[in-house]
Amino acid sequence: MQVSTDSRETWGSKLGFVLAAAGSAIGLGNIWRFPYVLGENGGFAFLIIYVACVLLIGIPIMGAELAIGRASRRNPVGAFRELMPKSAWFLVGVVGLITGVIILSYYSVVAGWTVAYLVNSVTGVVTSHANADAAGEAFSSFVSSSGKTVLYHFVFMFLCVFVVYQGVKGGIERYSKILMPTLLALLFLLIFRAVTLPGSGEGLKFLFNPDFSKLNVDVLLMAMGQAFYSLSLGMGVMITYGSYLDRQSNLFENATTVAGLDMGIAILSGIAIFPAVFAMGFEPTAGPGLTFQVLPMVFSALPAGQILAILFFALLTIAAITSAISLLEVMVSFATDELHWTRSRATFIMAALAFILGVPSALSFGVWSDFKIFGLGFFDLSDYLTANILLPVGGIFIAIFAGWAWKRAAVEAELRDGNPQLKFFNIWIWFIRILAPVAVGAILISNLLPKG
Ligand code: TRP
Repeated sequence: MQVSTDSRETWGSKLGFVLAAAGSAIGLGNIWRFPYVLGENGGFAFLIIYVACVLLIGIPIMGAELAIGRASRRNPVGAFRELMPKSAWFLVGVVGLITGVIILSYYSVVAGWTVAYLVNSVTGVVTSHANADAAGEAFSSFVSSSGKTVLYHFVFMFLCVFVVYQGVKGGIERYSKILMPTLLALLFLLIFRAVTLPGSGEGLKFLFNPDFSKLNVDVLLMAMGQAFYSLSLGMGVMITYGSYLDRQSNLFENATTVAGLDMGIAILSGIAIFPAVFAMGFEPTAGPGLTFQVLPMVFSALPAGQILAILFFALLTIAAITSAISLLEVMVSFATDELHWTRSRATFIMAALAFILGVPSALSFGVWSDFKIFGLGFFDLSDYLTANILLPVGGIFIAIFAGWAWKRAAVEAELRDGNPQLKFFNIWIWFIRILAPVAVGAILISNLLPKG
């Protein structure tokens, strides 16, 4: 299925690709969302289900995305057009692009908060609050201050532009190779501090205590949704990154490595965060509250807390950058392939688009907090629409495409390139044909049904 488009860039090395793809997967979703969801949904019991979702659904879909990308050597829209000309399949790519720009718009807002907290950790403000109420107030007053949040949203988007306009090898790969090892080092430093605190055992118990009584359908769906979002599946990041892979790469091995790193970092984040939270006598709370209110208190209470705060917010910022650049790259690859824009023009214009779309999200915690669509603020609406609807829909169509629309022999040949001993094809194809669409369809429907 070789299509020659000679000028397309490729990754410089296998490690470079793995770090860039793992960089996309490892993001805010791993560091604050995963540990909390795990702790609340049965600990070790949830972990088993989550791992099963990644292995049975996540890795097969990632394999499909990488194959679609490498076979076509195109952006998500061009990929479907190349593999299935004169059909409506390219619309899956179009929806992917729209999903990507929306995710990037609000992701950059939260990432902007982390940059602000990094700056405020350096100046000592983050660790200066006397009690939890003061830390909470500082957070609310920050997110409702229009000027500052928009400014940091801009700063973060600018960092992404800086990386992406330098290209795949000279930008994304180069910075992933610096940032991902740094992320790992920071995480290990934080873990070392956390598990050596007296009383840290409670936090580990919260994470790993297997509570099978909590398991039910909701937990199953939660695990699957988390797997999907965390692996950056369903909108074409892996199609785009796959389009820069050479024919010697083993697609399944790559998918498995990336998924393994993603799961590993999610678990390690829990080990870094919860022992400290429990040792200092705080309650674990969800999402932004944990990251921006509880952790600053935890750091304030610890010796050398300011340094830990700097390390932690640097870690979060790095994780967010390597995820956001993958979202930007999807749009840039579309504009360069299909609209024939130069890379720098594509990068600036697409980032500007995502920046502008993000402004209402940034303001929805302050001056625009009364503006609601379907009862949700702009930020919450962007998040809900993408994570709960557009990504699962994208995932279902990608699976159906790879399993049913694309000729079986062609998919098999694509997966065999770089993996001549391809073993599990006959199992994979049924996972992609039946299991993935049915399972993901179930998440989607249950998300849309009224809760009660
Ligand atoms: N995987 C990232 C995280 O865990 C978020 C992300 C980046 C993403 N690119 C994506 C999610 C594409 C879905 C689709 O934070």
